[in-house]
Amino acid sequence: MSNFQAIAFLIAAICFIMALRGLSHPKSARMGNKFGMWGMALAIITTFTLPVVQEYIWAPVAILLGGFVGTRIAKSVQMTQMPQLVAGFHSLVGMAAVLVAASAFLDPNSFGIVEGESIKAASLIEMGLGAIIGAITFSGSIVAFGKLNGNIGSAAKRFKGQHKLNAILGIAILLLLVMFTSSQSGSIFLLMILLSFIIGYLLIIPIGGADMPVVVSMLNSYSGWAAVGIGFTLGNTLLIITGALVGSSGAILSYIMCKAMNRSLFNVIFGGFGTAESESAEGGEDARVAKTGSPDDAAFIMKNAKSVIIVPGYGMAVAQAQHAVREMLDILTKEGVDVKFAIHPVAGRMPGHMNVLLAEANVPYDLVYELEDINREFAQADVALVIGANDITNPAAKDDPKSPIYGMPILDVEKAKTVFFMKRGMAAGYAGVQNELFFKDNTLMLFGDAKKVTEEIVKALED
Ligand code: TAP
Repeated sequence: MSNFQAIAFLIAAICFIMALRGLSHPKSARMGNKFGMWGMALAIITTFTLPVVQEYIWAPVAILLGGFVGTRIAKSVQMTQMPQLVAGFHSLVGMAAVLVAASAFLDPNSFGIVEGESIKAASLIEMGLGAIIGAITFSGSIVAFGKLNGNIGSAAKRFKGQHKLNAILGIAILLLLVMFTSSQSGSIFLLMILLSFIIGYLLIIPIGGADMPVVVSMLNSYSGWAAVGIGFTLGNTLLIITGALVGSSGAILSYIMCKAMNRSLFNVIFGGFGTAESESAEGGEDARVAKTGSPDDAAFIMKNAKSVIIVPGYGMAVAQAQHAVREMLDILTKEGVDVKFAIHPVAGRMPGHMNVLLAEANVPYDLVYELEDINREFAQADVALVIGANDITNPAAKDDPKSPIYGMPILDVEKAKTVFFMKRGMAAGYAGVQNELFFKDNTLMLFGDAKKVTEEIVKALED
């Protein structure tokens, strides 16, 4: 690699670091994305100038084709479908790692990894590890995609001896890696990949719907480490750096999410967290009758309140109600009401989902509070207005050890004097657990699409 190419790779790596930094705040996120795009463009162009690249037709064709399909998908996908999109893309990274490892194994001369008659031992370890992590990422991401997309039931699927089976498979894969390194056997390579596909599947099926956010970020991390494996096989330093950035930032995000969800990172990695069985995930409709209110009631009570805390959730994203919410905020603020927003770390379907929507509607950042900064304020609030949120307010997370969401911190909306729940019906949230708050004395249900109901509240406030 020439000095020029090394410097270009270094600049691309810096762009990726700047991208991660930019993405850490809604204000700088667009800039962060641009840095990522510039870095990637520079990385691809520089790679084509490397002496190892001898073929200039198929790769650009593949890039154009992949870019076209990716653009089509990105343009058509709804914001609420982002997690499954991300899980789907992680599966592609995983498969890419497996395929690169397989190509290197089948044609080691093109990769320059031959020493004497056989492949270098270090290269065998790198390609073995890359293939194992890639295969686990692939099948795990497919299961995550299925659960998030509703193709597979989101409930945790467990069977007796699951952890023992995982441990046996894990040890077998490591032994096969050792044998592969010493024997360079194709059948061992195949068996190792096959077992890795199986363990990837087994690690994700016992994880229930409510814990999927942590899984997605963990798979994100795995996909980064798989890319590191490919980077070593291809001898591409930038890919190693990029993979390590994705791997470590995904691991840090998983750690943050685990803390937010009160889960253990160790258990996530070994596919055994959410230890409670999902018996109490009864979900569905409840025969009891909840009290209902009208948009007029909500407008009247909020206009006369001193403080209102708005809790947005997945339903606000589905309804795209954020602009109407902003209008409501403006009117209430003009009326002298103190309005704040409470954001749960896993509200919606992706990290920062609610922040992005509120930022899009120009809700001032200083009105938006994280769970730990606002939870104590519910006890003094006159109104908690829950807009399309459910699990993140569900007290089963505190009271019911059998609940799949047990242990997850929740927003204490029930402590407010009056709680309005804006949703279309009595359906359970993502985790499939009924919410007892709907039947509390201080709760009034506002049934209907979140955007429509918020607009009606705005109209009533204006009148
Ligand atoms: P959910 O528990 O999914 O509840 C959303 C509620 O919104 C539903 O009960 C639904 O009830 C209502 N809703 C849907 N469409 C609506 C519309 N158009 N108008 C009004 N209401 C509507 O959401 P949450 O409270 O935000 O909690 C998030 C859940 O997703 C957690 O379990 C979390 O673990 C999981 N999750 C999060 C992420 C990340 S990273 N944030 C990723 C994957 C999964 P109706 O059908 O009765 O209207």
